[in-house]
Amino acid sequence: MTDASTAVPTPLVEALARAGQREVLRFWPTLDGAGRARLLGQLAVIDWREFETLRQLTRARHATPVPPPLDLAAATTPPCLALRDPANPIAPAAAVAAGQRLLASGLVGAILVAGGQGTRLGCTGPKGLVRVGPVSGATLFDLLFGKLRAIHRRFGRQVPLAIMTSSATDADTRQFLRDSGFGGLDPDFVHVFRQHDLPALDAATGTLLLDAPDHLAMAPDGHGGMLVALHESGGLDWFARHGVEHLTSFQVDNPLALPLDCEFLGYHALSQADFSTQIVLKREPQERVGIVVEQAGRHAVVEYSDLPAPLAAERRPDGRLRFHAGSIAVHCFTKRFLDRAAAREDSLPLHLAHKVVPFLDESGTLIRPTAPNAIKFERFIFDLMPLADRVTVVEIEARDGFAPLKNPAGSAADAPEHVHAALVDHARRLLAEAGVTVAEGIDVELDAATILDASDIAAVLPRGTHIDTPRVIRGL
Ligand code: UTP
Repeated sequence: MTDASTAVPTPLVEALARAGQREVLRFWPTLDGAGRARLLGQLAVIDWREFETLRQLTRARHATPVPPPLDLAAATTPPCLALRDPANPIAPAAAVAAGQRLLASGLVGAILVAGGQGTRLGCTGPKGLVRVGPVSGATLFDLLFGKLRAIHRRFGRQVPLAIMTSSATDADTRQFLRDSGFGGLDPDFVHVFRQHDLPALDAATGTLLLDAPDHLAMAPDGHGGMLVALHESGGLDWFARHGVEHLTSFQVDNPLALPLDCEFLGYHALSQADFSTQIVLKREPQERVGIVVEQAGRHAVVEYSDLPAPLAAERRPDGRLRFHAGSIAVHCFTKRFLDRAAAREDSLPLHLAHKVVPFLDESGTLIRPTAPNAIKFERFIFDLMPLADRVTVVEIEARDGFAPLKNPAGSAADAPEHVHAALVDHARRLLAEAGVTVAEGIDVELDAATILDASDIAAVLPRGTHIDTPRVIRGL
């Protein structure tokens, strides 16, 4: 038990001295027991060897290069298989059948990354708790878990789900799972694991920042923190015990995500890819989306901020952008590939972001800078791509599988009203496919847990049905 008399453990004092960071203890004499315990808890998880790397990166102001160093000028957009395209080298029907076999054999597991802070949206807790169901008000968690329940109903096998949380989302996510009966999932098929935090460093001096006398400014280590945290939590072994051979990963803020789409999984399996990824067509140079590129047989995702404007604007003779494969962060890996990557220490490089981070000055006054003052560090899942020997890229229609919630209401894109419209539009299109019409301006919603496709609608609504009041359509 830590109390106000707690001394700082000698090895920590020495580590802080070696790193030149003793200043973080400057308010120690004023802290009570709880405050001391809080600060010690944070300092205890700092890896001082890694801290040195962070400092060097801060000084050099650039991320560790993605292996192999990518020559964008020589890179191209890789060939993409488009969903339902008969011109694909693998027939769509064969892919669907292969994906169905994977699901019916229980060979697919899922990883949901839900550790982000949702700062742009202004979240105070997990984004997964944000209500987006256009009629039901269901949360993002409800809608995404529903997809797994629907697969279970259709194929008779549960999809084991690992949910990544962070210091920002862990407690509330676990509370949600307890309160909601695991969102309707079988608790034996849910593994919750927490990613690490990394300290934010003062951009000018490379030192740790306090945002309270007993608290360091730290942030989750990016969605790529998944690799190490899943491994350390025993998650890879947990998937193995469930007999999983392929892992599909998706993000909590895309309620239309199609991580378990049979055709996607089928292309992944039939092409014997280590790593498959979904993309949507990037149409305009200024769209803020990372792109999938290929160079010398290796694939990588390049962030929009790293793509020089002239290259971003270049078009091919067919009118498409030269780099048009917009990454939407839905991936599928073989379990073997993730095992191999997790065993390597250097699998994922660190990316730097220059951010505004409030901090305490010498006197203990909280300063809220108006311009970026600190460096935050993140790892990205997509940086695993260059490690894969065989990558399959699958193009989907954005309206079928991409409705990201990033920004607050009133923003130009990716705001709640855009997500609302995308979900209603998607429901209306599936209803139309099932021969059901919906009156102009009426919101409709498909119950994620019971409706996978138009055939589930046909089972409950006869063709010719007309809907003229807002409604959630539930399957059998
Ligand atoms: P984003 O960075 O786009 O969203 O993460 P965010 O972190 O939720 O919001 P901002 O950037 O602070 O506004 C994309 C996905 O990756 C997850 C998020 O939960 C989201 O599903 N993520 C992001 C993590 O799981 N951990 C992280 O450290 C960062």
